[in-house]
Amino acid sequence: MAASPVMRGNWRVYHHPHIDSTNLEALRLAGREALPWTAVLADTQTAGRGRLGRPWIDVPGRCLLLSALVHSPPGAEGLLGPAMALAATQALAEMGVHGLAIKWPNDVLLAGRKIAGVLAEGPVNGLIAVGVGVNANGSADDLPEELRDRATFVSREIGRELELGALADAILEHFERHHYRLMAGESAAVVSALRDHDCLAGREIRARSGGRVIEGRATGWTEDGRLAMIDSAGAEIVLDAGEVTLS
Ligand code: BTN
Repeated sequence: MAASPVMRGNWRVYHHPHIDSTNLEALRLAGREALPWTAVLADTQTAGRGRLGRPWIDVPGRCLLLSALVHSPPGAEGLLGPAMALAATQALAEMGVHGLAIKWPNDVLLAGRKIAGVLAEGPVNGLIAVGVGVNANGSADDLPEELRDRATFVSREIGRELELGALADAILEHFERHHYRLMAGESAAVVSALRDHDCLAGREIRARSGGRVIEGRATGWTEDGRLAMIDSAGAEIVLDAGEVTLS
């Protein structure tokens, strides 16, 4: 357990050298204190959690592992994860990383490969832990062989290392702004920014959702954070959750 939190902007930030999962720790804090604007950072996770029940593996001290504890925005719950992906994209762009894209629902891609993922969990006492993992500094050797054609590290693509503290601060600042909009009923601004970074709209995709595999053409983000597509029979479909690959 970290000694005490430090204020960074409007966030109370707990920093752990190692922890099971920053999302789990954020939800434990929600159970004890129920204070929003709390963030948990770790240098490494022993039980990092990915989407769809998968593990999230990090390179100790070289990846950003951050969870932000916030109120759930009524009617815009489905945009919390994407808003964090947007925040990470914008923070990285400010640090000179170009060519980023967001793949629905909340993967961040660089040069067509995944560099960041988001997992929103909760609520506990009305609070959601929105966790982001960024593969910041590392080489191909740090990835399991089966992931090397689908994932990469930012440093590998841009030829220099990122400062993780600055990245965390910038992500929290952007995420705070997006969260404020979602709470204020101004989600259209968030969706518009997501559409600006979307890598799926107009592309042929294969979606796995609710035990089904659907092929067709992605139309793009809906106003509430879902993915619209036209399937191969010409029917309009809207996906709540799932995983998409480009055909
Ligand atoms: C994905 O599968 O793409 C989502 C990965 C989310 C990983 C982050 S790392 C920080 C936070 N803590 C976790 O256990 N998971 C999220």
